[in-house]
Amino acid sequence: MNNNYDKIANYYDTLSRLVFFRSQLNAQINQLHFIKKNSKVLIVGGGTGWILEELAKLCSEGLRIIYVEISAKMIALSQKRSYKNNTVEFINLGIEDFATDEDFDIILTPFLFDNFPQQRAIKVFEQLNGYLKNGALWFLVDFSLQKKKGKWWKWLLLKSMYRFFKLLGIVEANRLTDMNPYFLKRNYQIVEERLYYGGFITATIFKK
Ligand SMILES: C[S@@+](CC[C@H](N)C(=O)[O-])C[C@H]1O[C@@H](n2cnc3c(N)ncnc32)[C@H](O)[C@@H]1O
Repeated sequence: MNNNYDKIANYYDTLSRLVFFRSQLNAQINQLHFIKKNSKVLIVGGGTGWILEELAKLCSEGLRIIYVEISAKMIALSQKRSYKNNTVEFINLGIEDFATDEDFDIILTPFLFDNFPQQRAIKVFEQLNGYLKNGALWFLVDFSLQKKKGKWWKWLLLKSMYRFFKLLGIVEANRLTDMNPYFLKRNYQIVEERLYYGGFITATIFKK
């Protein structure tokens, strides 16, 4: 089991919309205006690649995007997207197996860390931290149980989601790892935090 979404690549977006309406999209789209022209962007676990089209709507040229996705089917779907005159390099690897000397202006990890058990989450965080320039931004979007209001239904929904993904044999984690402490330990500052879906989804922009 390695968090590869091949099995549900063709249905993933529909499932997401059925359960979360547009919350998962909006949480990510609303962050994109922070990206400046000609930025070098690393997207990890971008799924079907709809984010590439949203990026192109805001910035139709000059972005250099490295797109690391463990699912070959997700990569194939992403390659069909219209990303205009931005450059996209698709890399079909788990992020753990990706190595680079480049450093990035922006890193996006939308709904990535919720797949990982704590030790993998910490390892991937440290790896990506090494790829981000000082003063650059990291867009973290994920589920959260941190806000007290409505904790029971969030907990129940999360448990059902993990059970569903376990039945399919996709997701490795059994519970969420709160990533905030790792960012704060590395002295990241919070530039923006927005909540969606009754606070079950948190979109945070961290500055290194
Ligand atoms: C929950 S989906 C989110 C997809 C997309 N970010 C979205 O919001 O629509 C997680 C994605 O991360 C990919 N993924 C999981 N583990 C990964 C890893 N170690 N390296 C790269 N991609 C990974 C999966 O294949 C899947 O496409």
